[in-house]
Amino acid sequence: MLKELYLEAIESIKSSAESDQNKIERRRKILTEGKIFKIETSGGEKAFLAIQDLAWGHIKATFGESPRTAHKSLAEKELKEAIAEAKDRLAADATLRQALIETYFKAIYSSPETLFEVPRLRVVKPIFDSQARAKAGQDFPAAFAAHRDTWYANPTSQINLWVALHDVKATETFVFYPQLFKQVVQNGSARFEYEKFKTQAGFGNSQWYSADLYPYASQDLSSQDEHSFALKQGEAILFAADHLHRTLAHDSEEMRFSLDLRGCLPTDSETGLCAPGIDNQSKGNAICDYRPGKVSTGQGNES
Ligand SMILES: [Fe+2]
Repeated sequence: MLKELYLEAIESIKSSAESDQNKIERRRKILTEGKIFKIETSGGEKAFLAIQDLAWGHIKATFGESPRTAHKSLAEKELKEAIAEAKDRLAADATLRQALIETYFKAIYSSPETLFEVPRLRVVKPIFDSQARAKAGQDFPAAFAAHRDTWYANPTSQINLWVALHDVKATETFVFYPQLFKQVVQNGSARFEYEKFKTQAGFGNSQWYSADLYPYASQDLSSQDEHSFALKQGEAILFAADHLHRTLAHDSEEMRFSLDLRGCLPTDSETGLCAPGIDNQSKGNAICDYRPGKVSTGQGNES
């Protein structure tokens, strides 16, 4: 059954006055309790505006003035190329990455040792056939099957920032299974090797492959409650990469665009501050491709 996800709002994100202790405690709750936080926005904050402006600049440069309906005018091959190009442009934008990192650091304790991946653009086309929608997880497991990012060799102390690039309904985002955060879920991560994955597949291609390269839950989850969420443009959530989650196949008229940034403080794992990671058998470590971000020293000057 689809239920509403409980999101704890971060009230103090607009001021930079929050204590490090609060941010450390938030990180602990995310990793060890599986709490999912929502970063609200009034729309006027500098970093939030920069994220939207930069992201949509790249997307429009690639798709034209109406990106969300580009699937109606482009052939599948052209659409695939446009999505790949937009993903590359966003991933290469250091200013966008830094704006995302600033948002991340406002919510979670900042340390110069924190490592981040490049920003990832996600694009989800609508599927209008209800039967095809119901089978999307089987037909396109890379895009729609339930998984933990840790099964992709992402660190168990990783926290993901997911940003809405437009208003999204609860049927257009993705679902979590909070009840399974600390429970073993059968999965195919044993066959996942990070280095092999990088050369043979890659994150940017996930919508177009159904290959075995992508790990996903192999047990039946149909009796499990699924928890989804709606966001307004610019709002974001923070969650442990070890949470089981699944992108929803939607039937909205427009394509869904979102942005995410994955961050990890490597010393967290050494001190035992990490998510359960109890059913991960992947090989390798994605953190070898993560890089530090600048820690902003500015106080109270972001809105
Ligand atoms: Fe994921």
